[in-house]
Order: sequence, then C-alpha cells, then structure tokens
Amino acid sequence: MTLTNEPPSSPPSSPFSTPLDTLLDRVEKDMAEDLVPAEIFNNEDVFRAEMERIFTNTWVFVAHESEIPEAGDFVQRRIGLDPVIVTRDGKGGVNVLSNYCRHRGTQVCQTDAGNTRFFTCPYHGWTYANDGRLIGTPLRQRAYGEPLDPDLWSLKRAPKVENRKGFVFASLSADVPDLEEWLGGGGWMLDLITQLHPDGMRVAGPPERYVVNGDWKTAAENFAGDIYHLPTLHFSVQEVDMLQGVQGSCEIGRTYEFENGHTFAGHAWTKAVHPGFTLWGYPDEYKEKFDLSGLDEAQRFVVDHQPPTVGTLFPNLSYIRMFSPVPGGPPAVMTSFRQWQPVAPGKLELWNWQFVWNFQDEESARHDYVSGQYYFGSAGLFEQDDTVAWEGVARAGASPWMRKEELKFNYQQSRTSPVDSTPDPDWTGPGVHRNTGYGEHVQFNFLRQWLKAMRGEARTDAATTEGTQA
Ligand code: FES
Ligand code: FE
Repeated sequence: MTLTNEPPSSPPSSPFSTPLDTLLDRVEKDMAEDLVPAEIFNNEDVFRAEMERIFTNTWVFVAHESEIPEAGDFVQRRIGLDPVIVTRDGKGGVNVLSNYCRHRGTQVCQTDAGNTRFFTCPYHGWTYANDGRLIGTPLRQRAYGEPLDPDLWSLKRAPKVENRKGFVFASLSADVPDLEEWLGGGGWMLDLITQLHPDGMRVAGPPERYVVNGDWKTAAENFAGDIYHLPTLHFSVQEVDMLQGVQGSCEIGRTYEFENGHTFAGHAWTKAVHPGFTLWGYPDEYKEKFDLSGLDEAQRFVVDHQPPTVGTLFPNLSYIRMFSPVPGGPPAVMTSFRQWQPVAPGKLELWNWQFVWNFQDEESARHDYVSGQYYFGSAGLFEQDDTVAWEGVARAGASPWMRKEELKFNYQQSRTSPVDSTPDPDWTGPGVHRNTGYGEHVQFNFLRQWLKAMRGEARTDAATTEGTQA
C-alpha cells in the first residue's frame, strides 16, 4: 500500500541534542536553501529560548529620553517578558530597574508612567528610591531588627544602560559590545533619521499599544524591508488616492544591510516623484530648518535620494517614515518608532511611538501625529493590513498539519529573479547596499542574526556582514 500523505522523515539527531537544537539544525540547513521552517514563527520551545538567549543577552531599546525629561520621571517598559522601570533619578541619571520586589517579587511599580521619588511595593511595603536603592521596610525594628543592607536588597539593575542621542537601550547581560559597536551601521542610519536638526526629536505622546496574534519576528522582518508586500497588501492606499505608486515600489526600492542583523529599506523618491522630492518629501519650511552639516557624504546621498522608509534594529525596534497626507490638509511626513514586544508564542504587543521634531510647535506636531495615525496606528490603513497578514503567518507556524509536512517558507527570490540584487559596488556607506527592493536579502540579514543569537554565537560579534547573501 502507498501512503500518499506520508510526512517527510526528520533528519537524524544526536541522542544528546534537544528538540530545539534539532530544530535549529533544521533552520540552518533550510536557510542554506533560502528557506525557513514555518514553525519558528509560533513555537513554545523557540519562544522560551528567544527570551533566554536573545532578550537577556543583547541591547534592547527601553525608552526615549523625552519620555523622562524631569527628575523623578519614570516609564514602565519590558525587556522580553521582564517588566522594567526606566527612571530619571535626582542626579539626572537614567536607571533601568527590574520591577520585581526583592522581598517576594511583586511589581513595585503598577503604573505605566509618572513622577516619583520612590516606589513602595503594594504587598508588604518595602520601599525603593527611584535609583533602585532599598530605603525602607515596614515595622523594621520588630520585623528585622537591623536595617537591611541596601547593597544586598536593592532592585536589580540592568547591567548595561546607554543613552545614544536620546535613545535609551539596556542589556540584561554585561557581556555585550558597547552600544555604538553593536549598532554599527544601524547607528549611522539612526543618525541620518533623527539628527537632521540640532534640537533633535521627541515622542509625540505615550506609546499606543495593541495586541497582535502574530510572532514578533514576523513584524521585525517585515520592517527590515519587505517592500514586495506593498503593491498587494497595501493596494487600498493607492485605491483611495492617499499614496500613488505602490505598484512600482520594488523597482525603486533600495536596501541597507548592516552587521548584527540591523536592516533598513528605502525608496528612490527623487527618481519616482520628482528631483526636488528630497528628504522624504518634507515640506520646504522643514528643510530650511534642517542642518545636514553633521552627515557624511554617503548619508547626504541617502537622505537626498533614497532615504530609509523602514528599518529594524535587532532584535525588536523598528522604524517607519513616509509622507502621509491627511486628506484635505497640508503635506506631512510621519515618523514612527515601534517595538514588537514578545508576549507568547505567536503573540506580540505592538508599541507605537510617533516622533516629531523639537522645533515644531504644538499645532504642527499634532498635524504630523494625526497623519501618522492615519497610516500607522491601531486604526491606521497600513497597520490594519499588516497585522491581519502577520496573524496568518503565526497560524501556519502552529498548524499540526503543517508541522507534519515540515512546511518551509520561501525566501528564494534572489535565486531566480532576473533583477540584479547584488551589492552596489559604488556604495561608500557601511554595510551592504542594493539598488532594488527585490531579493529578500534584508529579511535574511535579520534571520541570520536571529539564528546566531539562538545558537549563542552573537553576543560579542564584531562588525561583520559575512552571512549576508551576495
Ligand atoms: Fe514586596 Fe513583600 S513582596 S514587600
Ligand atoms: Fe506593510
């Protein structure tokens, strides 16, 4: 008898390897063929390992300093599954503290944001200063006799915290490269996005947050530069006349791959729209205020001709900037930084910060904020399209049938596309640059770093683009 639905046999595994190791071996083997097993996008073992091997071992964005400008300001954030409190203490320092009481673990901070000099645990009342020091224990004389040593019993602190031009990152491991080295070309790109004016940018409000039944990696790889989805998934924005030209977006796509998995993609707007459409299409009154003297030659070329539209700093901070007209209103350019907070296998919480320039007055800032929400917000045109598609990926990843079939996703565009997606030989900036949106190289730049991190090989990586598809 012939079994037509017989599942493919699994590769042999060592008697000492775990199911996760076996899966990662399979991922590595498949990636050599530009394929990726579907199940990594919704898998209990993978998720647990991501939390332990990636999110406790690398730099993760926690806040922008404009969210905590004054002494005592704080915001509650997450690094992977762990709640942290990001505080501005009385000396102006930024602290990233674990939100677990040292007595029994209850969250000492129960609100999203505020201003305080200390946090009192709601369970038994242990109290911590906003720099994390234990400063009080109720009924201390009777309960403990001696004061508890704050060196032993203060809130745990992230071993590394760095504020890079307003963007605060923390690492739960001390064994990581300096942030600047880790970001590499990603920092170079961040500068040409946020440092166009000496006064910099600020958040336009607290992050909007919503749950998506999709895997955090699906969102991160999409924002790494999946230009190919625009003409299909987002065709509605062309239909309602809000954005023309999405059909040709891969043709004018430009991609940027950097070391450590940081990846961006943009569009050659001066080619597609008109030669004066530089700097993302910012109106002239903005351009007049910008000071580009701090940018190098390659950065100038990028902002003038093919600025990044989207990008992902590994692991889970992404960015988008595009012109986003409010119907009937003046032109606007929206900027969003967003974080894909892992919640559970196949489930993420999307945190969306709209950013505006510090030189903007309230009215102009509100206009850009509203235009951003039209595109990217919980009810935004693009956001709704994307999140529905991403949920389908997670469904496929958890499918018992597809597990049996060992379903693999196809990233093979670069193998068969007639479009030249080899690295631009004339590129003088960091990393690898390609003059097309075809090829799916950017997603693989992100996923290769993911695999390295899951293997424990990514912690002290010096700059390299070795793994990048040629
Ligand atoms: Fe915080 Fe007891 S758990 S004081
Ligand atoms: Fe999209």
